[in-house]
Amino acid sequence: MRVARPLLLLLLHALLETLALRFSNGFYYHTIEKSDGTGEIHFNGVRLHVESPQSSVSAVQGSNVTLPCHYRYEPELSVPRRTRVKWLWLPTARGGREKNVMVALGSRHRSYGNFHGRVRLRRSAPGDASLVINPLSLDDIGRYRCEIIDGLEDESVIVELEFKGVVFPYYSPRGRYELTFQEAKEACEQQGACLATFEQLFAAYEEGLDWCNAGWLADGTAQYPVSVPREACGGVEVAPGVRSYGLRHKTFDRFDAFCFTSSIKGEVYFLQHPLKLNFTEAVEACVHDGAQIAKVGELYAAWRFVGLDQCDAGWVADGSVRYPISRPRPNCGTPEPGVRSFGFLPHHLKYGVYCHKVRW
Ligand SMILES: *[C@@H]1O[C@H](CO)[C@@H](O)[C@H](O)[C@H]1NC(C)=O
Ligand SMILES: *[C@@H]1O[C@H](CO)[C@@H](O)[C@H](O)[C@H]1NC(C)=O
Repeated sequence: MRVARPLLLLLLHALLETLALRFSNGFYYHTIEKSDGTGEIHFNGVRLHVESPQSSVSAVQGSNVTLPCHYRYEPELSVPRRTRVKWLWLPTARGGREKNVMVALGSRHRSYGNFHGRVRLRRSAPGDASLVINPLSLDDIGRYRCEIIDGLEDESVIVELEFKGVVFPYYSPRGRYELTFQEAKEACEQQGACLATFEQLFAAYEEGLDWCNAGWLADGTAQYPVSVPREACGGVEVAPGVRSYGLRHKTFDRFDAFCFTSSIKGEVYFLQHPLKLNFTEAVEACVHDGAQIAKVGELYAAWRFVGLDQCDAGWVADGSVRYPISRPRPNCGTPEPGVRSFGFLPHHLKYGVYCHKVRW
């Protein structure tokens, strides 16, 4: 038996090879070299290339976005092949496993979960497998993988989807360090925003955000960005950077929040009104103007994306009084651009108001 074994294996191997040849579909896949992770596979000298001209795409919530992905064969094939296109998604905030976005084979396609009805393939030319998401929702952020499946092998390319947006610190009307993780999440949502990711906070820090109170991020950590080290803020010895308290207990620990918004739907404006208004009157005045009192996130988005600049303090929806400055000047707060805040004020005090009108 022992002697016969290698011979048996050899025979078996030969048999399998014959079978493989007989059942291959025109392409002799037995000559496939393993995918080398460079976006190419090789079979009989034909190579499948999958590529994207952009490794990251940034967009604004509510807009259309196209994540580019193209494939081609080299040398070109005379007979079109049935190629399956699959898009997968790894959410930034949650981690874990990739989820299906859509699968397409020929004219048939299927989209999954939250993406249902919002995604399609662009197919503007042969080999165009670009994914169009419309409209884009804030939850869509993450890493997308365009996978081209041809028979036995597949190749893929990664496209990061980022949001152009703005990060802003937020605290509870009850005071500093009052929010559990869940409350922080809800507070951001009530302001037309969501909890920022670390990447978003880091980008904001690089653009100059300096804030000395730790806030929750989407991953359950509490962090704060310091660009100018100072005594009151962790000490002068520590280098500038985003400082982290690490993962915190979501119900027992309380912090502020870092919210992120990317929405610019509609228009935010300072209501022209002959009188100053208390909070109740301010809410009504916006409704009277066919609008709603602006949320904090909307005010930040208008400041950031449209350059809203108004040196008049006005009520916003959470009962705080703020004003946006894009071109700093004397008597309009600090020398840096930003949304200035007087914090939460008693509702009987009289100010202007910022309204938000959705354009149809
Ligand atoms: C987005 O795409 C749709 C069609 O897919 C088009 O009707 C719409 O005008 C586009 N919107 C923008 C903002 O480009
Ligand atoms: C605002 O003023 C109106 C009268 O115009 C009054 O009825 C209302 O109670 C006031 N609201 C607050 C919060 O002071």
